[in-house]
Amino acid sequence: GSDAVRPRLKVLLAGPRGFCAGVDRAIRVVEEALRRYGRPVYVRHEIVHNRTVVEALEAQGAIFVEELDEVPPDGHVVFSAHGVPKTVPAEAQRRNLLYLDATCPLVSKVHREAERHFADGGAESRHILMIGHAGHPEVVGTMGQLPPGAMTLIQDAEEARSVQPADPARLAFITQTTLSVDDTAEIVEILRARFPLIEGPKREDICYATTNRQEAVKAIAPGCDLVIVIGSPNSSNSQRLREVAERVGVPRAVLVPRLRDLDWSVLDGVETLGITAGASAPETLVQEMVNALGERYRLDIEERTVKQEDVIFKLPAPLG
Ligand code: F3S
Repeated sequence: GSDAVRPRLKVLLAGPRGFCAGVDRAIRVVEEALRRYGRPVYVRHEIVHNRTVVEALEAQGAIFVEELDEVPPDGHVVFSAHGVPKTVPAEAQRRNLLYLDATCPLVSKVHREAERHFADGGAESRHILMIGHAGHPEVVGTMGQLPPGAMTLIQDAEEARSVQPADPARLAFITQTTLSVDDTAEIVEILRARFPLIEGPKREDICYATTNRQEAVKAIAPGCDLVIVIGSPNSSNSQRLREVAERVGVPRAVLVPRLRDLDWSVLDGVETLGITAGASAPETLVQEMVNALGERYRLDIEERTVKQEDVIFKLPAPLG
């Protein structure tokens, strides 16, 4: 349409948004494995929680599986960025599979913390409260670093108030890396008040990328009528971005995996639109959305960056 009939739309782009260093590295691991070893390379679980990324890697020759028994003998297999229980590399070794671990180094760091608190189950051992969401692969992977019973999952403030550990003097906590910063602060506060001797990180184990993306969406949301978070429904950090936007008072925040999933009616009456993207969503999906908006609206685009990021992770040893 002509400029005369297209309505105006102000667009605030949150920065940082989209890919974090752990996602970027995990994708490079699969691509480099394909280059070195040829097709196919198997990937256990979605390498990162984004269909667009998964489909692009499938087109290059990656085959996604849920469990190792789907990988043939002598196959190459990559473990996803979320991390895996200890039983998974053990099983890969037993079956002589060639495996590459794309676990984000910031998730591996939490695994090492858990092991340190557990201290081989000896006299120094602490029971661990893991703050996170049941069933998320990162939680399954982190809890699977230690024998069953070594950790208790704490999902919310309510569970932090009601948990009854056997020995309140020998406790530690760790967290999932993609939680809501504000919710987690509340949970940690409850635990520290109830168990003054609990050990843990200074605040939590939420990673820099989760923290920065939540801060960035908080910075744009109060001025918006609608916030679109580009990300998948199974992406924890994307879900948190949507909640954070709603909590700081935006009338509506929606999670949209990609342009074709956008219900255009959500834009009715919207004058200022905020856009961000979860840590597993490629920037191309943001640009695709902005381009489509530009066909219907006269856009006034403003990018608001609350923090510059320069984190890059090296590839794991066999590929590095
Ligand atoms: Fe790692 Fe945080 Fe990304 S834990 S995979 S840098 S969201």
